[in-house]
Amino acid sequence: MKASITFDRLRWEEKALADAASSTGLDASLVDAKAMVFQVSKGHRELGDIVLQRCISHYRSLMVTRAIEGAGVRVVNRLSVAEVCSNKLATSIALSRAGIPTPRTMVAMSSEAVESAAGQLGFPLVMKPFSGSWGRMVSVVRDMETLQALVEYKEELANPLEHMYYLQEYVKRPPRDIRVIVAGDRLVASVHRYAPDGEWRTNVARGGTSKAFKPDSELKEMVHKASEAVGGGILGVDAMESSEGYVIHEVNNTIEFKGAQSAVSTSIPEQLMRYVASCARR
Ligand SMILES: Nc1ncnc2c1ncn2[C@@H]1O[C@H](COP(=O)(O)OP(=O)(O)O)[C@@H](O)[C@H]1O
Ligand SMILES: [Mg+2]
Repeated sequence: MKASITFDRLRWEEKALADAASSTGLDASLVDAKAMVFQVSKGHRELGDIVLQRCISHYRSLMVTRAIEGAGVRVVNRLSVAEVCSNKLATSIALSRAGIPTPRTMVAMSSEAVESAAGQLGFPLVMKPFSGSWGRMVSVVRDMETLQALVEYKEELANPLEHMYYLQEYVKRPPRDIRVIVAGDRLVASVHRYAPDGEWRTNVARGGTSKAFKPDSELKEMVHKASEAVGGGILGVDAMESSEGYVIHEVNNTIEFKGAQSAVSTSIPEQLMRYVASCARR
């Protein structure tokens, strides 16, 4: 079976996925999405039986997924999943509607409404961009003065998305969080991520370090529910240990796994490609 792995930046992960493909019976080619041209109404069979979509760019990844799915070729992850996971509000809604414990979250539709939302949440709180990863622009806001300063800066930005505000309660947790990688029903790897010195965010992209651990049955069940809540596929489920138990704050769509791989013995790329192959066979 033939597969394509679309990318816009070739990272360690894409190479590892391509290398792992043959052991799962897939003949996979790396395809630079920046060179792709789609003709609407054409089948684009040259992409093979299935595409693993790995673009980093928010808009390009959604556009490429839409174009491939529109051409009738199966994509991992599906467009509907990419859409939910690439928008933190959509993810929070999906988690909450599925009854999964998730941090209290508020969205203010303008700078006029943001102080009232913050007042309801209380300080400290966390402000996040609607889209993004690697912990970028995710900020702890400790008081109203800091909030006002951040809002003033954001109001000067040209992107209208910056003029609406995603605020979340600050979860009191140990200096680590949890990343569980899933592929369909299979739990591929579970790690604790520890923030580096002088940093509160645990993202590996910010220097966070990963350590393997065995999730208990409660967490496993929550992770499966979270994966289902966004539509399933290859996902990175992020959780925190709050004083009231686990909360899931994010489900990631196009995951990096170099950090997790450094902590576990199972081959993550092989497990992920095994899932892609099983989707192609279906
Ligand atoms: N509500 C919160 N309370 C405490 N820490 C948080 C909260 N939300 C996020 N963090 C920390 O910030 C990091 C980045 O936030 P996250 O929502 O996962 O955004 P990103 O998509 O950029 O990874 C998390 O991995 C976690 O360490
Ligand atoms: Mg995250």
